[in-house]
Amino acid sequence: MSENKNNIAKLSLPNGNSYELPIHSGTIGPDVIEIKKLYSDSDHFTYDPGFTSTGSCKSDITYIDGDKGVLLHRGYRIEDLADNCDYLEVAYLLLNGELPNKLQKSAFDNKITTHTMVHEQLALFFRGFRRDAHAMAVMCGVVGALSAFYHDSTDITDPSQRLVASHRLVAKVPTIAAMAYKFSLGQPFIYPRNDLTYSENFLHMMFSVPAEEYKIDPVLAKAMDKILILHADHEQNASTSTVRLAGSSGANPFACISAGIASLWGPSHGGANEAVIHMLNNIQKTGNVHEYVKKAKDPNDPFRLMGFGHRVYKNYDPRATVMKKTADEVLKAVGKENEPMFKLARELEKIALEDEYFISKKLYPNVDFYSGVILQAMGFPSSIFTVLFAVARTVGWVAQWNEMIEDPEQRIGRPRQLYTGSSERDFINIQNRI
Ligand code: CMC
Repeated sequence: MSENKNNIAKLSLPNGNSYELPIHSGTIGPDVIEIKKLYSDSDHFTYDPGFTSTGSCKSDITYIDGDKGVLLHRGYRIEDLADNCDYLEVAYLLLNGELPNKLQKSAFDNKITTHTMVHEQLALFFRGFRRDAHAMAVMCGVVGALSAFYHDSTDITDPSQRLVASHRLVAKVPTIAAMAYKFSLGQPFIYPRNDLTYSENFLHMMFSVPAEEYKIDPVLAKAMDKILILHADHEQNASTSTVRLAGSSGANPFACISAGIASLWGPSHGGANEAVIHMLNNIQKTGNVHEYVKKAKDPNDPFRLMGFGHRVYKNYDPRATVMKKTADEVLKAVGKENEPMFKLARELEKIALEDEYFISKKLYPNVDFYSGVILQAMGFPSSIFTVLFAVARTVGWVAQWNEMIEDPEQRIGRPRQLYTGSSERDFINIQNRI
């Protein structure tokens, strides 16, 4: 971050005081106005609900140009990473800043692979849940519980413990996700297999049963890898900011990631992939796409077209482009080229992209629009979609958490408020209250 000496913003207040605020430039992207000292100097806070104009940190990890529809991880385009890397390569990049060479890659693969098993006692934890619990509810609980099992990697002041915790999280979250799924089915948990790649192993833990051999389809394993890559990180979104805020108090990494999972669950964020499939199912039942588009446009109707719109992208989400292409490949591989749900998704996309409401508000399909269609074709139930998002995003959360801990400017996150409640008043005893 560089301070642009020629660029000082001037703020004048109605009381006649004015303040000079430094402007900083990043590598690319909009400059930022520093307001760190504004309160102590001027006795004023800034007000920005939803943080639409607020940069909460500096970061080297991910860059989004929302107007152009560009997403970069450590400077590399998401399309290039999705086409040429496997998930652990991208995970290494996010965590370490550079793509690994062959030696570094195999050492990293080996490191993650040897952390995939969970403490056997953790399996008992699942018995406390109802079988029909939502898998995201189970994830919040069990991932948070990791801090009760791995005491040797919860000291955030020790870089070696932070590294082990990071590897453990990337390695164990898929195992826990698969256990959550198996628990919901009443099937036995499937142990990880270290001879498989990250995505192959995940499919194996999700879909194999002890009674018969499970053959991993290479097209599906590749698609799984792409889906994981496309969700790996996305700058300071709600769940990542949650992880950073939780971590800013010094909480241990397992607790922070569990907080991120909770934030991801909401339908405006990671829960949208599940919501898209429910929406497409409902449209299929009624057979009226136009009715849903009309509802989405009605300002008096809270319904939104799920999988459309984004806080940052005011252009096509580049992840959605790769996702749509992957949907084609997967549907072909599983013999569902004429899948009605995919046809319907394409029809809905076309109608929305030609509609003045969506054009004027710059609402384009986002990553979640097609991911549900692919995941459903691969055999995943919709209740597990957001869990897959959490598996993929764990590395992004971990990278951002590490960056925050290592940032010398890091302090506990503590936003302020515009108080609109009652001013001080006299207490009234319960006998005298009307
Ligand atoms: N359908 C209909 N109208 C919409 C939609 C939509 N999907 N999204 C935004 N709008 C309208 C909204 O009503 C508002 O209109 P107006 O200006 O007349 O009040 C305008 O567009 C701006 O919307 P906003 O709510 O101020 O925008 P936001 O940046 O606060 O919200 C969003 C972004 C993603 C929450 C929102 O677009 C949305 O709810 N989309 C559907 C849920 C979804 O697909 N979420 C996944 C996001 S991508 C995955 C991830 O990274 O988590």
